[in-house]
Amino acid sequence: MKKVLVVGGGGREHAIVDALSRSARVAKIYCAPGNAGIAEQAECVSLKDTDVDGLLAFAKANQIDLTVVGPEAALAAGIVDKFRAAGLKIFGHTQAATAIESSKDFAKRLMAGAQVPTAAYRTFTDFDKALAYVKAGSFPTVIKYDGLAAGKGVVVAPTLEEAEAALRDMLLDGRYGEGKVVIEEFLTGPEFSLMAFVSGRQVRPMVAAQDHKRAFDGDEGPNTGGMGAYTESFATGKSGLSFISDEDYDFAVSHILQPVADAMADAGTPLSGVLYGGLMKTPTGIKVIEFNARFGDPETEVVLPRLESDIYDVFEAVATGSPIPGLQWRDESVMGVVMASKGYPGSYAKGVAITVAPAFAERIYHMGTKRQDDGSLVTAGGRVLMVIASAPTMPEASRRCYAAVAQITCDNLFYRHDIAKYVL
Ligand code: AMP
Ligand code: GLY
Repeated sequence: MKKVLVVGGGGREHAIVDALSRSARVAKIYCAPGNAGIAEQAECVSLKDTDVDGLLAFAKANQIDLTVVGPEAALAAGIVDKFRAAGLKIFGHTQAATAIESSKDFAKRLMAGAQVPTAAYRTFTDFDKALAYVKAGSFPTVIKYDGLAAGKGVVVAPTLEEAEAALRDMLLDGRYGEGKVVIEEFLTGPEFSLMAFVSGRQVRPMVAAQDHKRAFDGDEGPNTGGMGAYTESFATGKSGLSFISDEDYDFAVSHILQPVADAMADAGTPLSGVLYGGLMKTPTGIKVIEFNARFGDPETEVVLPRLESDIYDVFEAVATGSPIPGLQWRDESVMGVVMASKGYPGSYAKGVAITVAPAFAERIYHMGTKRQDDGSLVTAGGRVLMVIASAPTMPEASRRCYAAVAQITCDNLFYRHDIAKYVL
Protein backbone atom coordinates (compact mmCIF):
# COMPACT_ATOMS: atom_id res chain seq x y z
CA MET A 1 0.00 0.00 0.00
CA LYS A 2 1.25 3.45 -0.99
CA LYS A 3 1.91 6.78 0.69
CA VAL A 4 1.12 9.84 -1.40
CA LEU A 5 1.94 13.53 -0.97
CA VAL A 6 -0.34 16.03 -2.74
CA VAL A 7 1.12 19.52 -3.17
CA GLY A 8 -1.33 22.44 -2.99
CA GLY A 9 -4.25 23.54 -0.88
CA GLY A 10 -7.28 24.50 -2.95
CA GLY A 11 -10.41 22.91 -4.39
CA ARG A 12 -8.39 21.23 -7.13
CA GLU A 13 -6.17 19.52 -4.57
CA HIS A 14 -9.22 18.54 -2.50
CA ALA A 15 -10.62 16.80 -5.60
CA ILE A 16 -7.26 15.07 -6.19
CA VAL A 17 -7.12 13.93 -2.55
CA ASP A 18 -10.71 12.69 -2.82
CA ALA A 19 -9.90 10.71 -5.98
CA LEU A 20 -6.79 9.21 -4.33
CA SER A 21 -8.84 8.25 -1.29
CA ARG A 22 -10.95 6.04 -3.61
CA SER A 23 -7.82 4.20 -4.80
CA ALA A 24 -7.38 0.59 -3.74
CA ARG A 25 -3.61 1.12 -3.64
CA VAL A 26 -3.33 4.16 -1.37
CA ALA A 27 -2.99 3.75 2.40
CA LYS A 28 -2.00 7.26 3.45
CA ILE A 29 -2.38 10.71 1.93
CA TYR A 30 -0.50 13.84 3.01
CA CYS A 31 -1.30 17.27 1.61
CA ALA A 32 0.91 20.38 1.79
CA PRO A 33 -0.42 22.78 2.83
CA GLY A 34 -3.99 21.44 2.38
CA ASN A 35 -7.01 23.16 3.94
CA ALA A 36 -9.80 22.50 6.45
CA GLY A 37 -11.76 20.23 4.09
CA ILE A 38 -8.72 18.31 2.91
CA ALA A 39 -7.81 17.71 6.57
CA GLU A 40 -10.82 15.37 6.80
CA GLN A 41 -9.31 13.07 4.16
CA ALA A 42 -5.56 13.61 4.44
CA GLU A 43 -2.93 14.65 6.93
CA CYS A 44 -2.10 18.29 6.26
CA VAL A 45 1.54 19.36 6.39
CA SER A 46 2.29 23.04 6.90
CA LEU A 47 4.69 23.57 4.02
CA LYS A 48 4.13 26.08 1.21
CA ASP A 49 3.60 24.63 -2.26
CA THR A 50 6.73 26.42 -3.53
CA ASP A 51 8.95 25.29 -0.64
CA VAL A 52 10.61 22.70 -2.85
CA ASP A 53 13.45 21.88 -0.45
CA GLY A 54 11.07 21.52 2.48
CA LEU A 55 8.75 19.27 0.45
CA LEU A 56 11.66 17.14 -0.74
CA ALA A 57 12.94 16.70 2.82
CA PHE A 58 9.41 15.76 3.95
CA ALA A 59 8.97 13.21 1.14
CA LYS A 60 12.30 11.58 1.96
CA ALA A 61 11.75 11.53 5.71
CA ASN A 62 8.27 10.00 5.32
CA GLN A 63 9.08 7.49 2.56
CA ILE A 64 6.53 8.96 0.20
CA ASP A 65 5.95 6.63 -2.78
CA LEU A 66 4.52 9.27 -5.09
CA THR A 67 4.10 13.07 -5.02
CA VAL A 68 1.34 14.75 -7.06
CA VAL A 69 1.69 18.46 -7.85
CA GLY A 70 -1.36 20.72 -8.17
CA PRO A 71 -0.27 24.35 -8.69
CA GLU A 72 1.80 25.75 -11.56
CA ALA A 73 3.96 27.82 -9.20
CA ALA A 74 5.48 24.64 -7.74
CA LEU A 75 6.12 23.25 -11.25
CA ALA A 76 7.65 26.53 -12.39
CA ALA A 77 9.84 26.45 -9.26
CA GLY A 78 11.33 23.17 -10.50
CA ILE A 79 9.81 20.76 -7.97
CA VAL A 80 9.70 17.90 -10.48
CA ASP A 81 13.34 18.30 -11.54
CA LYS A 82 14.50 18.33 -7.93
CA PHE A 83 12.43 15.30 -6.85
CA ARG A 84 13.58 13.29 -9.86
CA ALA A 85 17.22 14.23 -9.29
CA ALA A 86 16.78 12.82 -5.78
CA GLY A 87 15.30 9.61 -7.19
CA LEU A 88 11.72 10.28 -6.04
CA LYS A 89 8.57 9.59 -8.09
CA ILE A 90 6.55 12.69 -8.87
CA PHE A 91 3.56 13.52 -11.11
CA GLY A 92 3.98 16.86 -12.88
CA HIS A 93 5.98 18.54 -15.62
CA THR A 94 9.61 19.58 -15.44
CA GLN A 95 10.40 23.27 -15.16
CA ALA A 96 11.34 23.37 -18.87
CA ALA A 97 8.08 21.68 -19.97
CA THR A 98 6.02 24.03 -17.75
CA ALA A 99 6.90 26.78 -20.27
CA ILE A 100 3.82 25.59 -22.20
CA GLU A 101 1.89 27.53 -19.52
CA SER A 102 4.42 29.98 -18.09
CA SER A 103 5.37 31.55 -21.45
CA LYS A 104 2.62 32.52 -23.91
CA ASP A 105 5.31 33.22 -26.52
CA PHE A 106 6.78 29.71 -26.12
CA ALA A 107 3.29 28.17 -26.42
CA LYS A 108 2.49 30.21 -29.54
CA ARG A 109 5.77 29.28 -31.25
CA LEU A 110 5.25 25.61 -30.41
CA MET A 111 1.73 25.69 -31.85
CA ALA A 112 2.94 27.42 -35.02
CA GLY A 113 5.61 24.76 -35.49
CA ALA A 114 3.15 21.91 -34.92
CA GLN A 115 0.36 23.49 -37.02
CA VAL A 116 -2.00 23.59 -34.06
CA PRO A 117 -4.95 25.94 -34.71
CA THR A 118 -4.85 29.09 -32.58
CA ALA A 119 -5.37 32.85 -32.95
CA ALA A 120 -2.90 34.66 -35.23
CA TYR A 121 -0.36 36.62 -33.16
CA ARG A 122 2.78 38.73 -32.88
CA THR A 123 5.18 39.07 -29.96
CA PHE A 124 6.56 42.45 -28.80
CA THR A 125 8.93 43.82 -26.20
CA ASP A 126 8.93 47.38 -27.55
CA PHE A 127 6.01 49.61 -26.55
CA ASP A 128 6.03 51.84 -29.67
CA LYS A 129 6.14 48.89 -32.06
CA ALA A 130 3.38 47.10 -30.14
CA LEU A 131 1.20 50.22 -30.18
CA ALA A 132 1.76 50.72 -33.91
CA TYR A 133 0.73 47.08 -34.53
CA VAL A 134 -2.43 47.48 -32.45
CA LYS A 135 -3.33 50.75 -34.27
CA ALA A 136 -3.04 49.03 -37.63
CA GLY A 137 -5.27 46.13 -36.53
CA SER A 138 -8.93 45.69 -35.61
CA PHE A 139 -10.83 45.75 -32.31
CA PRO A 140 -11.39 44.13 -29.93
CA THR A 141 -7.79 43.03 -29.71
CA VAL A 142 -6.25 40.62 -27.20
CA ILE A 143 -3.08 41.46 -25.24
CA LYS A 144 -1.37 38.80 -23.16
CA TYR A 145 1.52 39.26 -20.78
CA ASP A 146 4.25 36.70 -21.46
CA GLY A 147 4.65 35.06 -18.07
CA LEU A 148 2.74 33.82 -15.06
CA ALA A 149 0.48 36.66 -13.93
CA ALA A 150 -1.93 34.75 -11.68
CA GLY A 151 -4.63 34.72 -14.35
CA LYS A 152 -4.55 38.52 -14.66
CA GLY A 153 -2.23 38.80 -17.63
CA VAL A 154 -4.89 38.79 -20.36
CA VAL A 155 -6.68 41.93 -21.52
CA VAL A 156 -9.41 41.82 -24.17
CA ALA A 157 -9.36 45.48 -25.25
CA PRO A 158 -12.44 46.81 -27.06
CA THR A 159 -10.81 50.17 -27.89
CA LEU A 160 -7.39 51.64 -28.71
CA GLU A 161 -7.38 53.51 -25.36
CA GLU A 162 -7.77 50.26 -23.39
CA ALA A 163 -5.20 48.45 -25.51
CA GLU A 164 -2.72 51.29 -25.00
CA ALA A 165 -3.28 51.24 -21.22
CA ALA A 166 -2.66 47.47 -21.14
CA LEU A 167 0.54 47.79 -23.19
CA ARG A 168 1.73 50.59 -20.91
CA ASP A 169 1.08 48.38 -17.85
CA MET A 170 2.85 45.37 -19.28
CA LEU A 171 5.74 46.94 -21.21
CA LEU A 172 6.50 50.27 -19.53
CA ASP A 173 5.39 50.06 -15.90
CA GLY A 174 6.87 46.64 -15.16
CA ARG A 175 3.71 45.64 -13.32
CA TYR A 176 4.33 41.90 -13.61
CA GLY A 177 8.09 41.78 -14.21
CA GLU A 178 10.12 41.77 -17.40
CA GLY A 179 8.07 43.06 -20.33
CA LYS A 180 7.03 40.90 -23.26
CA VAL A 181 3.55 40.67 -24.72
CA VAL A 182 1.70 38.53 -27.22
CA ILE A 183 -0.92 40.41 -29.22
CA GLU A 184 -3.46 38.15 -30.85
CA GLU A 185 -6.54 38.00 -33.00
CA PHE A 186 -9.89 38.12 -31.13
CA LEU A 187 -11.77 34.83 -31.55
CA THR A 188 -15.44 34.13 -30.85
CA GLY A 189 -17.41 31.07 -29.77
CA PRO A 190 -18.07 28.98 -26.66
CA GLU A 191 -15.00 28.11 -24.58
CA PHE A 192 -14.34 24.74 -23.00
CA SER A 193 -11.56 22.95 -21.18
CA LEU A 194 -10.08 19.66 -22.29
CA MET A 195 -7.47 18.10 -20.02
CA ALA A 196 -5.36 15.02 -20.69
CA PHE A 197 -2.88 12.91 -18.80
CA VAL A 198 0.26 13.13 -20.92
CA SER A 199 3.49 11.18 -20.66
CA GLY A 200 5.87 11.80 -23.54
CA ARG A 201 3.83 10.97 -26.66
CA GLN A 202 1.08 9.16 -24.75
CA VAL A 203 -2.12 11.23 -24.47
CA ARG A 204 -5.12 10.07 -22.41
CA PRO A 205 -7.84 12.71 -22.71
CA MET A 206 -10.33 13.28 -19.90
CA VAL A 207 -13.96 14.30 -20.34
CA ALA A 208 -14.33 17.98 -21.24
CA ALA A 209 -15.77 20.61 -18.89
CA GLN A 210 -16.80 24.25 -19.03
CA ASP A 211 -15.59 26.88 -16.56
CA HIS A 212 -17.29 30.22 -15.74
CA LYS A 213 -14.62 32.87 -15.39
CA ARG A 214 -16.65 36.04 -14.75
CA ALA A 215 -17.74 36.87 -11.22
CA PHE A 216 -21.46 37.47 -11.79
CA ASP A 217 -24.52 35.98 -13.49
CA GLY A 218 -24.75 36.46 -17.24
CA ASP A 219 -20.93 36.54 -17.55
CA GLU A 220 -20.83 40.03 -16.05
CA GLY A 221 -18.17 41.48 -13.79
CA PRO A 222 -14.45 40.89 -13.48
CA ASN A 223 -12.53 37.73 -14.38
CA THR A 224 -11.98 35.33 -11.49
CA GLY A 225 -10.19 32.04 -10.95
CA GLY A 226 -13.50 30.35 -11.91
CA MET A 227 -16.97 30.53 -10.33
CA GLY A 228 -18.32 27.12 -11.34
CA ALA A 229 -17.95 24.27 -13.79
CA TYR A 230 -19.82 21.30 -15.20
CA THR A 231 -19.42 18.23 -17.36
CA GLU A 232 -22.32 16.34 -18.98
CA SER A 233 -23.22 12.67 -19.25
CA PHE A 234 -22.50 10.73 -22.45
CA ALA A 235 -26.16 11.01 -23.57
CA THR A 236 -25.13 13.56 -26.23
CA GLY A 237 -21.73 12.15 -27.15
CA LYS A 238 -18.35 11.21 -25.81
CA SER A 239 -16.87 14.65 -25.08
CA GLY A 240 -18.79 15.37 -21.89
CA LEU A 241 -20.26 18.58 -23.34
CA SER A 242 -23.37 18.60 -25.55
CA PHE A 243 -22.03 21.42 -27.75
CA ILE A 244 -18.79 19.56 -28.49
CA SER A 245 -19.52 16.81 -31.01
CA ASP A 246 -17.59 13.55 -31.20
CA GLU A 247 -15.82 14.98 -34.28
CA ASP A 248 -14.85 18.14 -32.38
CA TYR A 249 -13.51 16.03 -29.52
CA ASP A 250 -11.50 13.77 -31.82
CA PHE A 251 -10.14 16.82 -33.64
CA ALA A 252 -9.07 18.44 -30.36
CA VAL A 253 -7.21 15.29 -29.35
CA SER A 254 -5.61 14.49 -32.71
CA HIS A 255 -4.89 18.03 -33.97
CA ILE A 256 -4.19 19.84 -30.68
CA LEU A 257 -3.23 17.67 -27.69
CA GLN A 258 -1.33 14.95 -29.58
CA PRO A 259 0.78 17.29 -31.77
CA VAL A 260 1.65 19.39 -28.73
CA ALA A 261 2.76 16.30 -26.79
CA ASP A 262 4.82 15.21 -29.82
CA ALA A 263 6.35 18.67 -30.30
CA MET A 264 7.33 18.85 -26.64
CA ALA A 265 8.93 15.40 -26.87
CA ASP A 266 10.75 16.40 -30.08
CA ALA A 267 12.03 19.56 -28.38
CA GLY A 268 13.59 17.47 -25.60
CA THR A 269 11.10 18.74 -23.01
CA PRO A 270 8.56 15.88 -22.85
CA LEU A 271 5.36 16.37 -20.85
CA SER A 272 4.76 14.22 -17.77
CA GLY A 273 1.58 15.47 -16.11
CA VAL A 274 -1.67 17.13 -17.12
CA LEU A 275 -1.93 19.12 -20.33
CA TYR A 276 -4.88 21.52 -20.06
CA GLY A 277 -6.26 22.95 -23.29
CA GLY A 278 -8.35 26.10 -22.92
CA LEU A 279 -10.18 25.75 -26.25
CA MET A 280 -12.78 27.67 -28.22
CA LYS A 281 -15.30 26.33 -30.74
CA THR A 282 -15.03 29.14 -33.30
CA PRO A 283 -17.03 29.41 -36.54
CA THR A 284 -13.91 28.07 -38.31
CA GLY A 285 -13.24 25.18 -35.95
CA ILE A 286 -11.70 24.36 -32.58
CA LYS A 287 -8.81 26.68 -31.64
CA VAL A 288 -6.49 27.04 -28.68
CA ILE A 289 -6.91 30.02 -26.33
CA GLU A 290 -4.30 28.88 -23.83
CA PHE A 291 -2.50 25.89 -22.39
CA ASN A 292 -1.93 25.13 -18.75
CA ALA A 293 0.61 22.65 -17.42
CA ARG A 294 -1.63 21.32 -14.64
CA PHE A 295 -5.15 20.35 -13.65
CA GLY A 296 -7.63 23.21 -14.16
CA ASP A 297 -9.37 24.75 -11.20
CA PRO A 298 -12.42 24.47 -10.92
CA GLU A 299 -12.73 21.95 -13.80
CA THR A 300 -10.91 19.21 -11.86
CA GLU A 301 -13.56 19.37 -9.14
CA VAL A 302 -16.25 18.23 -11.63
CA VAL A 303 -14.12 15.97 -13.86
CA LEU A 304 -12.36 13.76 -11.30
CA PRO A 305 -15.59 12.66 -9.55
CA ARG A 306 -16.44 10.95 -12.87
CA LEU A 307 -13.16 9.00 -13.04
CA GLU A 308 -13.78 5.33 -12.37
CA SER A 309 -10.23 4.14 -13.03
CA ASP A 310 -7.81 4.02 -10.10
CA ILE A 311 -6.09 7.42 -10.23
CA TYR A 312 -3.00 6.12 -8.44
CA ASP A 313 -2.31 3.80 -11.39
CA VAL A 314 -2.62 6.74 -13.77
CA PHE A 315 -0.37 9.06 -11.73
CA GLU A 316 2.23 6.34 -11.25
CA ALA A 317 2.32 5.44 -14.95
CA VAL A 318 2.84 9.09 -15.94
CA ALA A 319 5.46 9.62 -13.23
CA THR A 320 7.48 6.60 -14.36
CA GLY A 321 6.92 6.81 -18.12
CA SER A 322 5.06 3.46 -18.21
CA PRO A 323 1.98 2.83 -20.41
CA ILE A 324 -0.96 4.84 -19.04
CA PRO A 325 -4.02 2.63 -18.43
CA GLY A 326 -7.20 3.37 -20.41
CA LEU A 327 -9.57 5.68 -18.52
CA GLN A 328 -13.09 4.69 -17.50
CA TRP A 329 -15.63 7.44 -16.83
CA ARG A 330 -18.94 7.37 -15.02
CA ASP A 331 -21.87 8.21 -17.30
CA GLU A 332 -23.22 11.10 -15.24
CA SER A 333 -23.48 14.88 -15.25
CA VAL A 334 -21.62 16.82 -12.58
CA MET A 335 -22.09 20.45 -11.60
CA GLY A 336 -20.02 22.52 -9.20
CA VAL A 337 -20.92 25.96 -7.85
CA VAL A 338 -18.21 28.09 -6.24
CA MET A 339 -19.13 30.10 -3.16
CA ALA A 340 -16.79 33.10 -2.90
CA SER A 341 -16.20 35.87 -0.38
CA LYS A 342 -18.13 39.09 -1.13
CA GLY A 343 -15.70 41.48 -2.81
CA TYR A 344 -13.70 38.72 -4.56
CA PRO A 345 -11.74 38.99 -6.90
CA GLY A 346 -11.04 42.33 -5.18
CA SER A 347 -10.48 42.64 -1.44
CA TYR A 348 -12.65 40.70 0.98
CA ALA A 349 -13.03 39.85 4.67
CA LYS A 350 -11.80 36.57 6.16
CA GLY A 351 -12.78 34.60 9.25
CA VAL A 352 -16.56 34.67 8.66
CA ALA A 353 -18.43 31.66 10.10
CA ILE A 354 -19.79 29.00 7.73
CA THR A 355 -22.56 26.59 8.77
CA VAL A 356 -23.48 23.49 6.79
CA ALA A 357 -26.99 22.09 7.48
CA PRO A 358 -26.99 18.58 9.03
CA ALA A 359 -29.09 17.31 6.10
CA PHE A 360 -26.39 18.29 3.56
CA ALA A 361 -25.77 15.25 1.35
CA GLU A 362 -23.61 16.40 -1.59
CA ARG A 363 -19.84 16.82 -1.92
CA ILE A 364 -18.02 19.95 -0.80
CA TYR A 365 -14.52 20.70 -2.03
CA HIS A 366 -12.88 23.34 0.13
CA MET A 367 -10.97 26.13 -1.63
CA GLY A 368 -10.20 28.65 1.12
CA THR A 369 -11.45 27.63 4.56
CA LYS A 370 -10.00 27.30 8.04
CA ARG A 371 -11.07 25.40 11.10
CA GLN A 372 -10.98 27.39 14.37
CA ASP A 373 -9.69 25.88 17.59
CA ASP A 374 -13.31 25.34 18.70
CA GLY A 375 -13.94 23.24 15.57
CA SER A 376 -16.03 25.84 13.73
CA LEU A 377 -15.45 26.50 10.04
CA VAL A 378 -14.61 30.00 8.76
CA THR A 379 -13.77 31.63 5.42
CA ALA A 380 -10.06 32.01 4.67
CA GLY A 381 -9.81 33.00 1.01
CA GLY A 382 -11.46 34.58 -2.04
CA ARG A 383 -12.97 31.39 -3.36
CA VAL A 384 -14.12 29.56 -0.24
CA LEU A 385 -15.80 26.32 -1.24
CA MET A 386 -17.32 24.49 -4.14
CA VAL A 387 -20.51 22.45 -3.88
CA ILE A 388 -20.55 19.45 -6.23
CA ALA A 389 -23.59 17.39 -7.29
CA SER A 390 -23.73 14.41 -9.65
CA ALA A 391 -26.87 13.05 -11.35
CA PRO A 392 -27.89 11.16 -14.48
CA THR A 393 -28.80 14.42 -16.24
CA MET A 394 -27.61 18.04 -16.13
CA PRO A 395 -30.96 19.55 -15.04
CA GLU A 396 -31.05 17.11 -12.11
CA ALA A 397 -27.41 17.82 -11.18
CA SER A 398 -28.19 21.54 -11.27
CA ARG A 399 -31.29 21.20 -9.06
CA ARG A 400 -29.39 19.14 -6.53
CA CYS A 401 -26.39 21.44 -6.56
CA TYR A 402 -28.37 24.63 -5.93
CA ALA A 403 -30.51 22.91 -3.28
CA ALA A 404 -27.26 21.97 -1.53
CA VAL A 405 -25.86 25.51 -1.88
CA ALA A 406 -28.99 26.75 -0.05
CA GLN A 407 -28.04 24.52 2.90
CA ILE A 408 -24.84 26.46 3.48
CA THR A 409 -25.16 29.57 5.63
CA CYS A 410 -22.55 32.33 5.68
CA ASP A 411 -22.98 36.12 5.84
CA ASN A 412 -20.14 36.85 3.49
CA LEU A 413 -20.49 34.50 0.51
CA PHE A 414 -21.89 34.99 -3.00
CA TYR A 415 -22.24 32.60 -5.95
CA ARG A 416 -23.47 32.50 -9.53
CA HIS A 417 -27.01 31.25 -10.17
CA ASP A 418 -26.46 30.35 -13.82
CA ILE A 419 -23.79 27.64 -13.90
CA ALA A 420 -24.31 25.39 -16.97
CA LYS A 421 -27.00 27.75 -18.30
CA TYR A 422 -25.40 27.42 -21.72
CA VAL A 423 -26.61 23.81 -21.95
CA LEU A 424 -29.74 23.89 -19.75
P1 AMP B 1 -6.46 33.07 -20.90
O1 AMP B 1 -5.90 33.42 -19.55
O2 AMP B 1 -5.45 33.01 -21.99
O3 AMP B 1 -7.38 31.89 -20.83
O4 AMP B 1 -7.43 34.26 -21.25
C1 AMP B 1 -8.49 34.63 -20.38
C2 AMP B 1 -9.74 34.81 -21.18
O5 AMP B 1 -9.56 35.83 -22.16
C3 AMP B 1 -10.14 33.58 -21.95
O6 AMP B 1 -10.84 32.67 -21.17
C4 AMP B 1 -10.97 34.18 -23.05
O7 AMP B 1 -12.29 34.41 -22.60
C5 AMP B 1 -10.30 35.50 -23.31
N1 AMP B 1 -9.41 35.36 -24.47
C6 AMP B 1 -8.12 35.01 -24.45
N2 AMP B 1 -7.62 34.97 -25.71
C7 AMP B 1 -8.64 35.30 -26.54
C8 AMP B 1 -8.76 35.43 -27.96
N3 AMP B 1 -7.73 35.25 -28.78
N4 AMP B 1 -9.96 35.77 -28.45
C9 AMP B 1 -11.01 35.99 -27.62
N5 AMP B 1 -10.96 35.89 -26.28
C10 AMP B 1 -9.79 35.54 -25.74
N1 GLY C 1 -9.99 27.12 -14.93
C1 GLY C 1 -8.89 27.79 -15.50
C2 GLY C 1 -7.59 27.43 -14.97
O1 GLY C 1 -7.42 26.48 -14.23
O2 GLY C 1 -6.63 28.11 -15.32
